[in-house]
Amino acid sequence: MALITSDAEVAAQFLRGGKLVAIPTETVYGLAGNALDEKAVASIFSTKQRPHFDPLILHFSDLAEIEKYTLGFIGYAQSLASAFWPGPLTLVLRKQPVVPYLCTAGLDSVAVRVPNHPLTLALLQKLDFPLAAPSANPFGRTSPTTAEHVQQMLGHKIDCILDGGPCKVGLESSIVSCLGDIPELLRYGGLSTEQIESVTGPLKISVSNNSNPSAPGQLDAHYSPQAPLVLLNCIDSSFAEEAKEDGFFIFFKRPSYETGNLKKLILSELGNEVEAAANLFSAIHEADATEPKTIFAELAPSQGLGLAINDRLKRAAAK
Ligand code: TXA
Ligand code: MG
Repeated sequence: MALITSDAEVAAQFLRGGKLVAIPTETVYGLAGNALDEKAVASIFSTKQRPHFDPLILHFSDLAEIEKYTLGFIGYAQSLASAFWPGPLTLVLRKQPVVPYLCTAGLDSVAVRVPNHPLTLALLQKLDFPLAAPSANPFGRTSPTTAEHVQQMLGHKIDCILDGGPCKVGLESSIVSCLGDIPELLRYGGLSTEQIESVTGPLKISVSNNSNPSAPGQLDAHYSPQAPLVLLNCIDSSFAEEAKEDGFFIFFKRPSYETGNLKKLILSELGNEVEAAANLFSAIHEADATEPKTIFAELAPSQGLGLAINDRLKRAAAK
């Protein structure tokens, strides 16, 4: 099993030696390696069993570092960076030659962000290279939001997990492409569309599905638990009564009826989207661990972080 530590220097030593370390961020745990070391990057892909057409996000301690690896930090990209970094936002920019094509899946653009977690920022400051880090789950599985999730899914394959506690945001970063005149949203995530548009004005929404491959790697089937996941707009009392023998229920907010001994989790008692987002992946992991026949989950209202919550739920439910 992997060594679990909260000492950033221990993690730094593994990374300087070309090893992988799972790192905490405000969104989800990442599987990190030296982005400039092609062997380390290759082992990220093999450890996750991730297809090579799916490019990685590079993590930095600050904007000044990012400018050494990217080009074309135009007006709205600058505004987004100063408004939201460190934070759950990834920007796609043109890459400088120093960024290996292995990180970008052969693209001339690169995805970058400054994560908002004190331990990982301290770690990045100790290193003289950026960290390439996808979410620290085997390809297609539910993303980890605690060190324990990482240990369960990848502990037998990596040396070290830097434990920074549970992730506060709980959904991956929102991704905005800054390659064109108008900013383009490629992935719903921990920063709501409304928050981003308050800085940039209207976004072009290009969140991909099968018919729109603009963000490579945004596959329809992703984040999957082992048990089948079925989505409902609302889990009502008669349905719950009927399905309670075999089912595990994930409610968006506390239902209005008595749920008795139903196997269940509530994402947010009062239906707060930010709180629900923070609890989503943990709830899926917890439900799955009880090995139910089916997990039933309620969709969130389509506003704010509800869009990102529903995006993850739909991909997790897809076959
Ligand atoms: O919150 C997060 O973003 C987490 C933490 C660890 O930082 N990371 C994460 O990485 O979610 P990952 O590998 O699961 O998602 C990376 C996605 C790719 O699947 C792709 O959709 C997009 O970022 N991406 C990366 N490089 C890109 C590029 N050059 N152009 C367009 N999309 C890109
Ligand atoms: Mg991922």
